[in-house]
Amino acid sequence: MKNVLAFKPLPADQLDRIRALHRVTVADPKVAPDAFYAALPEAHGLIGASTPIDAALLAKAPKLEVVSSVSVGVDNYDQAELRRRGILLCHTPGVLDETVADTIFGLLIATSRRFVELSNLVREGKWQNIGEDLFGDDVHGKTLGLIGFGRIGQAIARRAALGFGMRVLYHARRPVDLAAAAPDLQGKATHTPLEQLLPQSDFVVAMLPLSDATRGMVDAKFLAAMKRGAIFINGGRGPTVSEPDLLAALDSGHLRAAGLDVFTKEPLPFDSPLRTHPRVTPLPHIGSATHETRHAMAELATTNLLQALAGERPTAVFDTSAA
Ligand code: DGY
Repeated sequence: MKNVLAFKPLPADQLDRIRALHRVTVADPKVAPDAFYAALPEAHGLIGASTPIDAALLAKAPKLEVVSSVSVGVDNYDQAELRRRGILLCHTPGVLDETVADTIFGLLIATSRRFVELSNLVREGKWQNIGEDLFGDDVHGKTLGLIGFGRIGQAIARRAALGFGMRVLYHARRPVDLAAAAPDLQGKATHTPLEQLLPQSDFVVAMLPLSDATRGMVDAKFLAAMKRGAIFINGGRGPTVSEPDLLAALDSGHLRAAGLDVFTKEPLPFDSPLRTHPRVTPLPHIGSATHETRHAMAELATTNLLQALAGERPTAVFDTSAA
């Protein structure tokens, strides 16, 4: 029997799976820091999400064998330190792709058609004549530029190309072999250099993981290269975008609007101008937040944890060798 520290609540059935084999403490450091830090020194396994696990925190967990994240993104973890200590890092790829793509596509439509702004008019009793000043722009038939073309990017491309008749351009380090990875997108998504993709796209959707290479990638130069009147959507990680540069591009009228599910600081600070900007549709990082998908993520994270603690190779280990 080993010691597991769940740093975020897990569904009861997944907690039961762990409890059948190990001793479990559930303590979210944001809610119960004393219990969390008391359990760390004996913990063999950590499971959870939304808490930065840095070297200082890891130093308090000398027995740690595995960190199992209930997320696909692993930017919260000090990967170099985990690799140095030989601690496995697991995550949840694959099970959230369709749900995140739904969220991003919904955000894209909501932003282009001004759903939140117009819904607020109704709620505030201000529904009068819906004239041209309140019209949105079509989504179908337009050009979508995807920055990042992993599994989630491909799921967004599928909705755009097959469902909405959109032309899809994508930027990735190298062209994706669509015949092997996504045969239904063959001839429907085109690998395009960034400098050509940005001025052609009516919508630019960033789905970038956070790394040294992507931090601040969406800056003034990137935004200036976008088509005038285009819409920017971020569903990857907040710090890939310079928020002051994005605000400047919105305020100058160069960009028509932005839909944002992620921010540099989360929860979004109350005084952030992005919170109330009339042309920003903000969401509270809900890309994967459905009952079905969050359960599937917890299930995979639990499987990863149990496999690692049993000395087996987990289903979804994140390769920290590049860190
Ligand atoms: C992920 O899984 O990385 C999502 O962004 C939720 O954190």
